[in-house]
Amino acid sequence: MTKATNIVWHDGQVSKQDRQALNGHKSAVLWFTGLSGAGKSTVAVEVEKLLHKMGIRTYILDGDNIRHGLNKNLGFSPEDRKENIRRIGEVSKLFVDAGLFTLTAFISPYQEDRDLVRDILGEKEFIEIYVKCDLEECEKRDPKGLYAKARKGEIKNFTGIDAPYEAPEKPELVVENDRQTIGESAQQVIDYLQKNGYIS
Ligand code: PPS
Repeated sequence: MTKATNIVWHDGQVSKQDRQALNGHKSAVLWFTGLSGAGKSTVAVEVEKLLHKMGIRTYILDGDNIRHGLNKNLGFSPEDRKENIRRIGEVSKLFVDAGLFTLTAFISPYQEDRDLVRDILGEKEFIEIYVKCDLEECEKRDPKGLYAKARKGEIKNFTGIDAPYEAPEKPELVVENDRQTIGESAQQVIDYLQKNGYIS
């Protein structure tokens, strides 16, 4: 890949703050991370529903969906996962600049990659949410039958089986999806946003 040269940044005349003021709320990324089957997408969908009802503008970026389009040229090697997360970090930044609460549901197994996104977004606009669920429970749920395939060796580099998952060191929030309902996890996220002044 060759790097572009002679490129110059152009500022518009409407700022992120202008868009946030028009929306009547701030914008940030809610970064859901966790094992396959932990319930990242399910909680994200529920949180989005609640935010939408409160009149807050949102968008969800989901791992499975993004890999059908924008990132369809990426696999599951550590390098490809890194690039997957880097691109989503950059896309999230654009969505936050557009004034939206952006909910992302990616395994994002490496701390270093999540930290890179934190750097891209900045502390205030990156909310790391660890969707915690025991591997045993995820494997029992196995909603897509992928754990069974990974155990049989039909899928290589499967997170939790023969590829690592590094649990977040200092997430803003942990939702224990193996001990509470989806509704409770979603409400926990809403409470966090209210308590920390993101929404009223
Ligand atoms: S990552 O690690 O953040 O780049 O992964 P992500 O983009 O979130 O994609 C995860 C979904 O891809 C399916 N899948 C796999 N997951 C983990 N490891 C391997 N090898 C793999 N192969 C396919 C799986 O459906 C994941 O979806 P979720 O929603 O997490 O179960």
